[in-house]
Amino acid sequence: MAAITVPDISLNDGNTIPQLGFGVFQIEPKDTARAVGKALEVGYRHIDTAEMYGNEAEVGQAVHASGLDRRDVFVTSKLNNGFHRPDDARRAFEQTLQALKFDYLDLFLIHWPLPTRYDGDYVSTWKVLEEFQRDGRARSIGVSNFQVSHLERLAAEADVVPAVNQIEVHPYFGNEEVRAYGRTHNILTEAWSPIAQGRVLDDPTIVDIAEQLGRTPAQVVLRWHVQRGDIVFPKSTTPKRIEENFQIFDFELDDATMDRIAGLDKGGAGRQGPDPDTFDYVPS
Ligand SMILES: NC(=O)c1ccc[n+]([C@@H]2O[C@H](COP(=O)([O-])OP(=O)(O)OC[C@H]3O[C@@H](n4cnc5c(N)ncnc54)[C@H](OP(=O)(O)O)[C@@H]3O)[C@@H](O)[C@H]2O)c1
Repeated sequence: MAAITVPDISLNDGNTIPQLGFGVFQIEPKDTARAVGKALEVGYRHIDTAEMYGNEAEVGQAVHASGLDRRDVFVTSKLNNGFHRPDDARRAFEQTLQALKFDYLDLFLIHWPLPTRYDGDYVSTWKVLEEFQRDGRARSIGVSNFQVSHLERLAAEADVVPAVNQIEVHPYFGNEEVRAYGRTHNILTEAWSPIAQGRVLDDPTIVDIAEQLGRTPAQVVLRWHVQRGDIVFPKSTTPKRIEENFQIFDFELDDATMDRIAGLDKGGAGRQGPDPDTFDYVPS
């Protein structure tokens, strides 16, 4: 089998990011190093973690144990919801670097905007991420779960345009308005829960397309995302699926098939996760 090359995409700050990565949400710490180790062995070079996932240390262990050069693995983490105040954010970022045993992160994100917390002030938090980029400890900075109004406010009040916005996107929830804002403002969309945590995989349309192409439903859906230009990092602790999800660069979906999948969008009713306008969870 020919070696698979994952495309690198250019970010608005001149850095690049592998379009396919590996997500570690809901992977128990005890299982994380093994799953990430398997992903690195298969060829993934982009890992998406978060302080909230409780497995940063194990992600770091797997990267160090892989023998790969640190520069060859793109690692993202995110600021947890309890740490939006500037001094807390500075401390939390240091702790993230310590947990991973890294001296820099490739990408650091505000995990949720929390517009109903902190007096609605995610701008001061964002300005602290700008500091991390200036001092070189975060090569790129971005946001997650930001709606158009939140991005507009950053555009008006901050200096740096986020490199990415990591948002829920899958065939049942196209999140088109936020994606469109990203396209016109040079903010790449990262599609979280790209297979809706498995929920879209037995959809009759997806199954039909998969059968026609001799691919699995997960491969079809992941391929749809990458042809739309978004970044994806499916999660799995199953070695066979970790391999399967990587095999998406040797086939293509035609325009009619892309449209058929886009036609499954249920709008807001298709959301799997919380609505960022109202989500206000802060760990105690
Ligand atoms: N920023 C945010 O707020 C946010 C929110 C959610 C997720 N994320 C990020 O996005 C990543 C991906 O999202 P996600 O973990 O929620 O869900 P996902 O990747 O859409 O789906 C993961 C689920 O699908 C199963 N699965 C994976 N590959 C499969 C395949 N080929 N065939 C059948 N089932 C398969 C996995 O099962 P097994 O593990 O049992 O194989 C797991 O239950 C996360 O890990 C995280 O990095 C970010």
